[in-house]
Amino acid sequence: MGSTGGSTVTLRRYGSPGDAAATFAVFQAAVRQTAATVYAPEQVEAWAGPPDVDLTGWDARRREAFTVVAQDGEGVVGFTDLVGDGLVDMLFVHPRVGGQGVARALVTAITDEARARGLPGLRTFASRSARPALERLGFVVVAERPDNAVRGVVVPNCEMRRLLQEDGRRSGRESAGG
Ligand SMILES: CC(C)(COP(=O)(O)OP(=O)(O)OC[C@H]1O[C@@H](n2cnc3c(N)ncnc32)[C@H](O)[C@@H]1OP(=O)(O)O)[C@@H](O)C(=O)NCCC(=O)NCCS
Repeated sequence: MGSTGGSTVTLRRYGSPGDAAATFAVFQAAVRQTAATVYAPEQVEAWAGPPDVDLTGWDARRREAFTVVAQDGEGVVGFTDLVGDGLVDMLFVHPRVGGQGVARALVTAITDEARARGLPGLRTFASRSARPALERLGFVVVAERPDNAVRGVVVPNCEMRRLLQEDGRRSGRESAGG
């Protein structure tokens, strides 16, 4: 895909040595820096959680999902996943490469996987930070979740969906010249 600071970004499946620590570091940076622009400090702290945790469970969840990692010459810069029937559980991009198309590339990769599985659509619970980007990526808000709580702290988000069948019908009409 594209470049970040002169370094090419590539996508691959999660599972290389060090991926647990690298993706957890991206998660921490994305929440504590990027999301901190739209949430209060106590909300950021609750969402990020402790910065030094046992990563065994984190690693297991990434491996259970179809997790895609983006990396450049300096290391992992983002990741997303596809869980079960079409849930996008994680989408985090390191702020040092924000706004350079990394999330778009990651979401395209799991969209391709979802289509290959014949899934009707994707859904996610989007933070205030991710909502504008996900709207640009074809997701629409289906429900506000003002009472969403993390570790006992209210961190409002929203449920968003993207229909893949609709995409297919639309592209089918287009290719038919309609
Ligand atoms: C949300 C996030 C993943 C976006 O990653 P990114 O790599 O910077 O996004 P991209 O550069 O691929 O942008 C994708 C599209 O969204 C747009 N976009 C991104 N952030 C935007 C913002 N804050 N406002 C408006 N548009 C935005 C981009 O312009 C782009 O649109 P285009 O391709 O049509 O020009 C990243 O900001 C992040 O990690 N945020 C904090 C963590 C978070 O909230 N994660 C989601 C948990 S639910």
